[in-house]
Amino acid sequence: MSKVIAVFGATGKQGGSVLRSLVKTDRYRVRAVTRNSSSEKAKELSNLKNVVVVEADLDNKDSLDVVLKGCYGVFFVTDFTAHFVKNKEVDQGINLINKAIINNVKHIVFSGLENVESQINEPCLHFDYKAAIEDYGMKQKDKLNFTSVRMPMYYQEVVSSVLNKAFGNRFLLNIPMDSGKKLYIMNVEDIGNCVASVFSDPEQYKSQKIGLCGDFLKVSDIVLLLNQELSPLKIYFPGGWFNRVLFRNILRFPGVKDLQIMFEYFNLQIMKRDPDLTKKLNPEVVNFATWLNKNRNEIINNKIV
Ligand SMILES: NC(=O)c1ccc[n+]([C@@H]2O[C@H](COP(=O)([O-])OP(=O)(O)OC[C@H]3O[C@@H](n4cnc5c(N)ncnc54)[C@H](OP(=O)(O)O)[C@@H]3O)[C@@H](O)[C@H]2O)c1
Repeated sequence: MSKVIAVFGATGKQGGSVLRSLVKTDRYRVRAVTRNSSSEKAKELSNLKNVVVVEADLDNKDSLDVVLKGCYGVFFVTDFTAHFVKNKEVDQGINLINKAIINNVKHIVFSGLENVESQINEPCLHFDYKAAIEDYGMKQKDKLNFTSVRMPMYYQEVVSSVLNKAFGNRFLLNIPMDSGKKLYIMNVEDIGNCVASVFSDPEQYKSQKIGLCGDFLKVSDIVLLLNQELSPLKIYFPGGWFNRVLFRNILRFPGVKDLQIMFEYFNLQIMKRDPDLTKKLNPEVVNFATWLNKNRNEIINNKIV
């Protein structure tokens, strides 16, 4: 009988990619976890072969047993930006790991990140909370296998950072980093095959923190590629100082401070990702230029509308 893997965040970007890759292997039965099984996305998932949609909420411990009972593995992603409540993300992660242990789950793959505060003395909550979950998970190695996969910024997020019609027909790339500094980035849809490879070889990848990336580019090269692949759009990058002013003094949205610190951390160039291991886990991982070229029309239409 094939193993059962529960995928939290299955209706979202990371979990959706993981779910599709696991299904493609034909080796697992997949439980797609959502808080609302009647949403359009959940209904779409329920039509896939070997997928069952199950309702649970990371904030409701009792709802987790139904999902985890009989599971071999769990992939989960937590989302600070869904609520911005201090420490909630950590509670969600620790509760899930504890429930997985009680339910005899063998392998958890978590979408983790590194602790930023310990490196730069400034808290970056959506990183630091995931690092706390990661630490807790790694400490459970006598009870289950735990692997962390650390995503970099998504290609999709880089494109979202091109502000829509910021200055007439000119577009501005709003990344508060210096143009010569390099940024790890990746197609979020490529995480799925990486996670499927990790599940297929638990002995090799247990207790590992795997830094994923599809490309590692200077901000100035990102700007060049955006202009090359998205022509006739014209994308400007005024320079880190301008974007820092925007982030510090002008932009007002929940979590803006957390993002500002994240980019300061990226700018220090101490973050590490592993392109070779990413390629080993997912030989089909695409670079930024290829991804832009493939999605060109959709991106352009989305920016112009
Ligand atoms: N954007 C980037 O470049 C980037 C890079 C690295 C890491 N990240 C991290 O990625 C995370 C977001 O992942 P994503 O992009 O896949 O998000 P997403 O597309 O917005 O999806 C969020 C998923 O989380 C589920 N979810 C939210 N709250 C839940 C809860 N209480 N219980 C159960 N499920 C819950 C949602 O499911 P339902 O609504 O169906 O219940 C949904 O499937 C963030 O933590 C962010 O820090 C982002």
